[in-house]
Amino acid sequence: MCGIVGYIGDKLADSVLIVGLERLEYRGYDSAGVAVIEEGELIYRKKKGKIKILREILEKNPVGGNIGIGHTRWATHGEVSDENAHPHFDCNKKIAVVHNGIIENYIELKEELIKKGHIFSSTTDTEVIAHLIEENFNGDLFEATRKTVKLLKGAFAICVISEKEPDKIVVARFGSPLIVGIGKDENFVASDVPALLPHTKSFVYLKDSEMAVLYKDKVLFFDFDGNKIEKKIERASVEIYDVDKGDYPYYMLKEIYEQPEVAERILNDKLKGDEIFFENLNLSKSFLSKVKRVIIHACGTSFHAGLVGRFFLEKFARVYTEVDISSEFRYRNPLLEGDTLMIAISQSGETADTIAGLREAKSKFIKVLSIVNQEKSTIARESDGIIPIKAGPEIGVASTKAYTGEILCLYLFSLYLGRINYVVGEEEFKRYLKPLRDIPMKIRKILSDTSFIEELSDKYHKSKDFIFLGRGINYPTALEGALKLKEISYIHATGYPAGEFKHGPIALINPNMPCVCISPKSEIYDKMFSNIKEVAARKGIIISVATEGDEKIKEVSKHVIYIPDIIEELSPVLSIIPLQLLSYFIATKLGLDVDKPRNLAKSVTVE
Ligand code: F6R
Repeated sequence: MCGIVGYIGDKLADSVLIVGLERLEYRGYDSAGVAVIEEGELIYRKKKGKIKILREILEKNPVGGNIGIGHTRWATHGEVSDENAHPHFDCNKKIAVVHNGIIENYIELKEELIKKGHIFSSTTDTEVIAHLIEENFNGDLFEATRKTVKLLKGAFAICVISEKEPDKIVVARFGSPLIVGIGKDENFVASDVPALLPHTKSFVYLKDSEMAVLYKDKVLFFDFDGNKIEKKIERASVEIYDVDKGDYPYYMLKEIYEQPEVAERILNDKLKGDEIFFENLNLSKSFLSKVKRVIIHACGTSFHAGLVGRFFLEKFARVYTEVDISSEFRYRNPLLEGDTLMIAISQSGETADTIAGLREAKSKFIKVLSIVNQEKSTIARESDGIIPIKAGPEIGVASTKAYTGEILCLYLFSLYLGRINYVVGEEEFKRYLKPLRDIPMKIRKILSDTSFIEELSDKYHKSKDFIFLGRGINYPTALEGALKLKEISYIHATGYPAGEFKHGPIALINPNMPCVCISPKSEIYDKMFSNIKEVAARKGIIISVATEGDEKIKEVSKHVIYIPDIIEELSPVLSIIPLQLLSYFIATKLGLDVDKPRNLAKSVTVE
């Protein structure tokens, strides 16, 4: 992961870098640093901890200079420490490098460099890059960097400056995102668009095996063989990248409250009257009608959305559907045949494991459809077609609005496929579309009074463990509810299929164990009810999520959180909202930074 940023122009580089890093903090926040060239000399500041610590250091001990690079780290190789914070340097501290990615062959490279007399000051993989550039330097920073990147295995986006050539930043991309921002008499580079939005709306997206050299007044682009290449400048939409927190204390809360608008936006974008319409699907109806198998793959929260999607695809389109965790999918030599469609789901579009799975499919000539939030991301660009989630930027590390957006996109796509396959008739189709239109209003209703959920968080925020149980289409809700709680509150939580619970895990139940049972109205409500009774009989504290009007659930529950009535298929969109709020309130009660939970980063760009 990690976020990188670079600037060259007339402004003071450190101010551009620090704002850029703050806007990239969602990519990691273990340590941060900047290097600038001030009056011909390379100087730097770097420190363990969040970016605000680096900001304080720069305020007390400012740096000048109009060219610089910066980094916010999510540690992979080497502990979290001042020494391992980027930038990293060559032996003489004349060359500075920031890096996002993992250099897989760094141990061999490091051993060779040490034999040649290089002295290392950190335990990171990145530092080899700086020493290799030093080794390859023959009066041309671009050439030295170009030769270096050809020696690296793994994934990287790098920015390099040197006091030997103080008029340029050399950058390269392979496997990790990097964009160049074009300004007037100033140019920028960063891992992601929001870092540069205060300065420019014009961007060039580097592809793998591409490099650029940024000067104050021009940017030149090359491939890894040193050939000059032409790149298109694209305009970013300001509206899409509005990243302010507004009056909310945390992005996560803001994003939870944005869910009605996200649902509205998805419906407005993809529903034209009683027709479902996907602008960039790029997969013909005749191709889709021949699809015999769908493989969904994704990570984390997006994987949970995929589990919900399987129900839709099998029910509405009667297509055999598998759902896999991307990091597992790729390494089990999956069977991929011609009549298979892959669906990759990703909020960021930059998750390395998901990209790897997508490439595996493409290498076997399998068409890939992506459900993505970041429409300019690697996953979006490498897929045959995309369904954009249009959730707007999701900054809080815990995914919320992207999740409900992904489920809605999967619902619409499955119905679309169901029509193509003649599985869903016209009347049925309309019947399934109708409740969709009520979704925004029903989410608003849940959000309009959260006092009960807050009270529950008051009662249970000191619990050591939580169990989440669900069945059928709400089993993924149990997984997602548990994930939300553990990632932001650090409370151990397990999501389990309620019917399976008695086959072992029920032994965990004790009178202090909160057990959140997701049991909205459904065809298997009675089965779920029996499973809850089994837990209640063992004195677990039952907190049920149930449909308004369900009085029976009170017989087995200590607390009931009601959600509005909705068809079973759409219940996961509503039942997750109270669980997002419960996690949020518990984490804030515990005094934790919910937007930046420990050990995590928003975008996992390493495998
Ligand atoms: C959890 C969370 C992560 C992501 C996962 C995949 O709240 O945010 O589990 O869902 O890292 O990320 P994307 O969807 O960007 O591929």
